[in-house]
Amino acid sequence: MPEPVALYVHWPYCARICPYCDFNVTRDRGQAIQRPLFDAILTDLRNQAEIIGPRRLASVFFGGGTPSLLPPDWVAEIVDLATFLFPSSPLERGEEALSIEITLEANPTDAEIGRYRAFHEAGVNRLSLGVQSLDDEALRFLGRNHSAAEARRGIETAQGVFGRVSLDLIHALPGQTVAAWRDELTAAAGLGVEHISPYQLTIESGTAFGRAVRRKLWSPPDDETAEAFYFTTQDTLETLGFEAYEVSNHARGPAARSQHNVLVWEGVDYVGTGPGAHGRITKNGIRHATTALGDLKSYIARVGETGIGYDSDALSPVEAQEEAAMLGLRLIEGLDLARTPDLDLGTRAAPLIADGFMAIEGNRLRATAKGRVVLDRLLFELLS
Ligand SMILES: C[S@@+](CC[C@H](N)C(=O)[O-])C[C@H]1O[C@@H](n2cnc3c(N)ncnc32)[C@H](O)[C@@H]1O
Repeated sequence: MPEPVALYVHWPYCARICPYCDFNVTRDRGQAIQRPLFDAILTDLRNQAEIIGPRRLASVFFGGGTPSLLPPDWVAEIVDLATFLFPSSPLERGEEALSIEITLEANPTDAEIGRYRAFHEAGVNRLSLGVQSLDDEALRFLGRNHSAAEARRGIETAQGVFGRVSLDLIHALPGQTVAAWRDELTAAAGLGVEHISPYQLTIESGTAFGRAVRRKLWSPPDDETAEAFYFTTQDTLETLGFEAYEVSNHARGPAARSQHNVLVWEGVDYVGTGPGAHGRITKNGIRHATTALGDLKSYIARVGETGIGYDSDALSPVEAQEEAAMLGLRLIEGLDLARTPDLDLGTRAAPLIADGFMAIEGNRLRATAKGRVVLDRLLFELLS
């Protein structure tokens, strides 16, 4: 059986650019302009499949940007091409064999809600909704083009169409109290979704929020308050039956985890297509990091010239193992140390284990609840 591969498709267009967002995004200016990008993505995918050779498709993730602005028949074309290029058999997930997970990130605006069914018909079986907040004032602050009522309608419609629905929520907004966040999270969990990704607001330098904070128009909560938000999130969702299987991802049991993200964190190869997309491809035992050109015109031109849209770097064994550690330690089960034979992590982690930030069981090293809140610092100590 061929080795698995996951597929990430980046669709950069958005109806509006959110003031906090520093992803590779651009304003949506209509389908005529988007067609060359769509064609380039198909060509890129075809040629990448040729380069990596026979694989079986393990998952597909449409991210962005706002891929729910894609015409559903374009989504169907990408899904059909991917399943043709990488014929898949059902992945084993727990006891059951399920067909592969195909996720699309979507916004809960009325216009997009009307297309959910068409996305389902195109092959999408999991929707990741960029809800961000259930509070109208917070949504305005976050520059969102949907109301809390639309978000609730979007969630309800998505539940009826897909069954598998995830919500993104942002917390630690200026002035937000921990108690208000707990109530919002509880309300979100009460809407019946199987998966919640709560993110702490991060202030990125190139964004409108970055500029506002630099000009001291407002400031994000201090570290201590941010930590209180984090622990409230963990406790609230755990009480409500959501397992924190990763730093910012909570699922109602193992079957509700994002298969695609788990595959990536566990080090399975993934093809990245679309401007700015990253990929990891192993060839002849060497792992390659691929980075697609971020600028749309450059990406399309590169695909036109060479057939693929990325630059590729071979990772040294140590670089590949360091990356495996960084990703594996995000998961609640931690890292199988067999994946990092050259890093001697068992020894290096000893002081962190003694201080209760990490734990080792058998061959698995993991961050404890206390350690996960400072995971970046732990990784720095382990890997520098
Ligand atoms: C690529 S974005 C999804 C885009 C989706 N179309 C939307 O508009 O919500 C993935 C998620 O990352 C989170 N995110 C992006 N920038 C963030 C920031 N600066 N701070 C916290 N969370 C952020 C948001 O929750 C967002 O839904």
